[in-house]
Amino acid sequence: MKHLISIADLSKQEILELLETAARLKEDRKKGIFQEKLKNKTLAMIFELPSTRTRISFEVAMLELGGNALYLNWNDLQLGRGEPIKDTARVMSRYVHGIMIRAKKHNTVEELAKFSSIPVINGLSNLEHPCQVLSDLLTIYEHKGLNARITWLGDGNNVCNSLILLSAILGLEMVVSCPAGYEPSALSKALELGGKIKLERNPKKAVENADVLYTDVWVSMGQEAEREVRLKAFRGYEISRELMKYAKDDAIVMHCMPVHRGEEITDDVIESRNSVIYDQAENRLHMQKAILLKLLG
Ligand code: CP
Ligand code: NVA
Repeated sequence: MKHLISIADLSKQEILELLETAARLKEDRKKGIFQEKLKNKTLAMIFELPSTRTRISFEVAMLELGGNALYLNWNDLQLGRGEPIKDTARVMSRYVHGIMIRAKKHNTVEELAKFSSIPVINGLSNLEHPCQVLSDLLTIYEHKGLNARITWLGDGNNVCNSLILLSAILGLEMVVSCPAGYEPSALSKALELGGKIKLERNPKKAVENADVLYTDVWVSMGQEAEREVRLKAFRGYEISRELMKYAKDDAIVMHCMPVHRGEEITDDVIESRNSVIYDQAENRLHMQKAILLKLLG
């Protein structure tokens, strides 16, 4: 494992090792135990799109591991004026020990990795959000164990792609409930990997046997022009009290955040005992540390 670009780059064993490390680091932090395993190492973080969780959790993770993190806005770099990615990659490889990038296009992340001699981490692209779903695995493990049945509701987007790949590699059962035309683009890859993934158009049926209900925004970053069309297309797929009547009483509700209350999920479900979204956000920190130790350690 040199880079983390797609969940499909990981083996089952590597995923389980990351899970174990993240769980251990979470316990250590509670006890006030910190090890400076990345002392004198610097992570550059390039953002072409906004971020709260990814930015803060990576930065704090580096600091708590004894290293440094540089926040670099795409438009403040020469990248914003058209400097080629391959030059940026080669130059940054001489200064820092790893690069985390959030990019509009997945291809940008791949190109950066191709020309970097240091590890590159995908902090979200239009196609995947691998760090998100790895930390979500910790949340699922904590609340439901490793045999949980997961149902995705809404847009088959970047987070959904990473989640179906993760569930395929781990052999977890998953149902994806989305309107026609919004299926995850990684579905065939996930099925090739042996994924036990079913499509179910009817959200009421889709939630029936699930231990985990997961949703995300209907309009991802960069899709703002499609907003009206999307809001119409996803009508009926929101996680509401009404939909929760068809789900198991103790099903957990997940969302990678930011949440659009009143669109993909209602405020009362977010505030209900089923919701684990703040645990999810916290677990980003513990999993980023595990990823950083694996790649930069
Ligand atoms: N879930 C997530 O990646 O959040 P941010 O966009 O705030 O980083
Ligand atoms: N699907 C969302 C995730 C945000 C963390 C987006 O790409 O905007």
